[in-house]
Order: sequence, then C-alpha cells, then structure tokens
Amino acid sequence: MTAAPAFSPERSGVLRFAGWMALGLAAALLSSRPALASPQLALDKGCYTCHGKPPRKSAPTFAELASRYAKHRGNTSAENALVEKLRQGSFLGHIDAHERLSQEDARRLVRWIIDGAH
Ligand code: HEC
Repeated sequence: MTAAPAFSPERSGVLRFAGWMALGLAAALLSSRPALASPQLALDKGCYTCHGKPPRKSAPTFAELASRYAKHRGNTSAENALVEKLRQGSFLGHIDAHERLSQEDARRLVRWIIDGAH
C-alpha cells in the first residue's frame, strides 16, 4: 500500500484552479466599482436635464438626493430598494429616463448618489 504523495498532480490542479478563481473574483470586484464613471453616466443618460441646476419642475437636485440618500450608505437592502424604486418610475408620472435604466446602470447611479453625487 502506498501513501498518496503530499502534492499530487490533481491537488495542484485544484490549487491552480482556486488561484484563478480568486483572481477572477478580485477582477470582478474591481470592475464593479467604476466610481468615477457615474457623473458621466448621469450626463449620458440625460439625468441633468431635470436634476441639474436649476432643476426642472418638481425634480430634486442631485445634491438634495445625495443628502436624502446618505443615511443608506453601506445598507445593501436599502440600496436594492432604491434601485428598484428608481426603475419602476413613480406611480403618477412616467419618467422615461428612470424606467429605461438597466439594473446595472441604476445601481451605479444610486451608489453614486449615496456616495454624495460628486
Ligand atoms: C424628465 C425629468 C427627469 C429626468 C430626465 C430624470 N429624472 Fe429623476 N426625478 C424626476 C422627478 C420629477 C423626480 C421626483 C418625483 C419622483 O420621485 O418620481 C425624480 C426623482 C428621482 C430620484 C428620487 C427617487 C426617490 O423617490 O427616491 C432619483 C434617485 C432620480 N430621480 C434619479 C435620476 C437619474 C439617475 C436620472 C438619469 C437616469 C434621472 N433621475 C432622470 C425627474 C427626472
């Protein structure tokens, strides 16, 4: 009976796989935080048309939204709720720019607002 070698080829294969997984995960985490892209994203999506200075009609400015949302910083479930709420549009008035947002874009913009909308 032979004892299994301490470092079998299979085992090093598993380790290498785990290494790549960790690397992939790190890359995914890094690429999911493009913090600086959001003001540009808000500009591209036309958000400033209504939320700029001066805001249009009843729209709050991003600075107002940021102070309203700041308390949710670090609260993932509140963040999720805000993302959904934004994409659903309001009950009374449709806001295309809100409803057209992809889940991903809405999340980036909500995070940007929570972080102060700078
Ligand atoms: C056509 C005008 C208009 C555009 C364009 C617009 N908004 Fe709004 N937004 C409003 C109005 C009006 C409100 C306040 C009424 C409401 O909440 O529905 C609002 C509310 C919001 C709120 C607060 C929702 C809440 O109640 O917590 C957020 C966040 C927001 N907008 C983000 C955005 C983002 C991000 C964009 C760009 C994708 C955008 N808006 C584009 C008009 C607009």
